[in-house]
Amino acid sequence: MMVLPVWPKRCYRPRLLWGLLSTMIVLMTLRFLTSGGHEELLSHSLPYFMPDKGHPISPPLLPSSDDFLLLPTPEARSSTDPSLLVLVVSTPHHVTQRQAIRSTWGGARWAGKFTVRTFFVLGLPREPSLQSALEQEAAEHQDLVQGRFLDTYGNLTLKTLSLMGWAATHCPGILFLVKVDDDIFLNLPGLAEELEHHTTLVPTYLGEIHWRAWPNRDSRSKHYIPASLYPAEHFPLYCSGAVYVLSGTAVPILLGASRHVPLVPVEDVFVGLCAHWAGILPQHLARLTGAAHYPPDPCCYREVLLSVHKVTPIEMAAVWDSTTPYKKTCQVWQWALGFLRCKALAWMADL
Ligand SMILES: *[C@@H]1O[C@H](CO)[C@@H](O)[C@H](O)[C@H]1NC(C)=O
Repeated sequence: MMVLPVWPKRCYRPRLLWGLLSTMIVLMTLRFLTSGGHEELLSHSLPYFMPDKGHPISPPLLPSSDDFLLLPTPEARSSTDPSLLVLVVSTPHHVTQRQAIRSTWGGARWAGKFTVRTFFVLGLPREPSLQSALEQEAAEHQDLVQGRFLDTYGNLTLKTLSLMGWAATHCPGILFLVKVDDDIFLNLPGLAEELEHHTTLVPTYLGEIHWRAWPNRDSRSKHYIPASLYPAEHFPLYCSGAVYVLSGTAVPILLGASRHVPLVPVEDVFVGLCAHWAGILPQHLARLTGAAHYPPDPCCYREVLLSVHKVTPIEMAAVWDSTTPYKKTCQVWQWALGFLRCKALAWMADL
């Protein structure tokens, strides 16, 4: 007679198995959410509004020098011949924000193996009286790039075209272009280390990916996109506009693609459309956070995250001062929890 195996009465083993299994699922989900590399999976789940292969590459849409009012002198631009160019999208009256960046992360001239230069991009002030102050600021710091268009929210896409055009014409040798808003704390050493793992041979577009985003059809919204301009129901994948990275090779290609793409007034969507048209797939970098705000925690700002959004000039200076001269800011346990700890801090701050 055969002896059948029986479970102990209290079902001890299945429970243990369930525990292990659910822990594994939670860990795998967390890993999926906090790592990059799943953009291909995401991109297949989206209805595309146009084919992304087989376009001939158009010549880039380049600005002429008449398109700019203020420009850094050629010496100021090439004094370090940047391989990593940071362009901060600013606006005429944000003098304090620009000063906070200059005196913190924006003052760096090296990061990892890259030489770095940071410039501010803006348009024309509504109040003409502000222009003379801008001229003084430009003369003193040689770091303003001012396009000849009114600096308004509706012209942000023009500002992006203008900054990419300036980069392509004046700094053609760069390896990477980093576009950030002026309320971003950028962890340049961390970003440089990450970028060393990315090739610049193929055009690269990196950031925190927005997926399954759709056009806002409410005409009262500042993000309104009329169906006549963009009829499809979804956007292709695109990187959050607060901070994204383009390889130097991607910039002229996007400028070429911009001739074929509707000029939607939402800047990051527009870049995503250009990339999509050109067949450049965005890559997700979760540590390049664009959407959430993180409370000023030196470990998160200086080591774990690559960028933090919605940082006031005061917070920026405070986080910088508390950790200068640059030293390790994370305890071992903070390192071990890494990104999850910083996310948890952000969630708690939001409650
Ligand atoms: C964009 O800039 C142009 C040129 O200065 C100006 O005429 C236009 O009104 C601006 N558009 C928006 C939407 O602000």
